[in-house]
Amino acid sequence: MRNTFSNDTRLLGLLGHPIRHSYSPFIYNISAQLLNLDLLYLPFDIPPSDLKSAVRGMVTLGFKGWNVTIPHKETIKKHLSNLSEEAALVGAVNTVVNDVGNLVGYNTDVHGIHEVLLPFKDEVGGLEVTVLGAGGAARAAVYSLIKYFRPAKIHIINRTEQRADSLKDYFYNKMRYSEIKTYILFPPEVHEVISNSKLVVNTTSVGMFPEVDSQLFYDPKVFNRGQIVFDMVYNPIETGLLKMAKGEGAVTINGLRMLVSQAAKSFELWTGQELPAPAIHDALLNYIK
Ligand SMILES: NC(=O)c1ccc[n+]([C@@H]2O[C@H](COP(=O)([O-])OP(=O)(O)OC[C@H]3O[C@@H](n4cnc5c(N)ncnc54)[C@H](OP(=O)(O)O)[C@@H]3O)[C@@H](O)[C@H]2O)c1
Repeated sequence: MRNTFSNDTRLLGLLGHPIRHSYSPFIYNISAQLLNLDLLYLPFDIPPSDLKSAVRGMVTLGFKGWNVTIPHKETIKKHLSNLSEEAALVGAVNTVVNDVGNLVGYNTDVHGIHEVLLPFKDEVGGLEVTVLGAGGAARAAVYSLIKYFRPAKIHIINRTEQRADSLKDYFYNKMRYSEIKTYILFPPEVHEVISNSKLVVNTTSVGMFPEVDSQLFYDPKVFNRGQIVFDMVYNPIETGLLKMAKGEGAVTINGLRMLVSQAAKSFELWTGQELPAPAIHDALLNYIK
């Protein structure tokens, strides 16, 4: 396994704020070692006011690409030359490819969501689904659902109703999709909406380490047998929400597979190579617990 670098080492990175809890350096550096690639992935904690100069610095230093995470996924767009069709429609970028100074933005979260939900495509099509949250991850989820899964209706439930409404307007304007209904999180009526949904996707950060005991709701009866419940949170691997859903007989999906799938797509864009996904998934399971 390679553990030295050369003058030709391919540099990749991450721009975010904060980035302390990111698993990306682990994923890409272990992948490079397993594939014996001369590649180094470095995380950079960049506050919003420094984003423009950080992008310039990445280009000057010859970084071949980088990931973008909270809070830069939308603001990075104005520093790029082009966007992939998906990044343009989702309105957020999580991966940048530097093609000799031509910076192209991609959204590989969409790919991750698609891969994770694909086995359930026939079950979800034509039925109602619920997306909990209305941030960047919700945008990727709603886009993916509209484009690949064609549910009868998408319910978006969020703490801040305005944000859910603006997502609804966004997808109407961008994709002429009119089957979105929005709700504020707390009233009990939303329990019924969730109960009647074939698929429930949590895109909020509620339940994430270290606040593992926080919950969006505490009544397990919102879930039932026959439902599919996908929580994008990957630390802990089994969140309180997933435990509750599993207890009621729902099929549950944790955030780890999406994390690995979206990373695999970014890796392919940068290197043209396949990320050793099963090995990385297992390595993460050991690393996170
Ligand atoms: N598995 C993966 O590969 C993957 C990929 C992307 C993201 N994620 C995860 O998805 C989560 C969200 O990421 P994001 O980029 O969408 O973040 P974001 O844009 O900041 O959105 C956060 C969302 O969580 C809601 N929220 C936060 N704290 C809350 C609370 N105490 N009560 C109720 N709602 C709350 C926010 O509601 P308001 O609008 O009311 O603030 C908003 O809807 C994170 O945990 C992230 O790690 C996972």
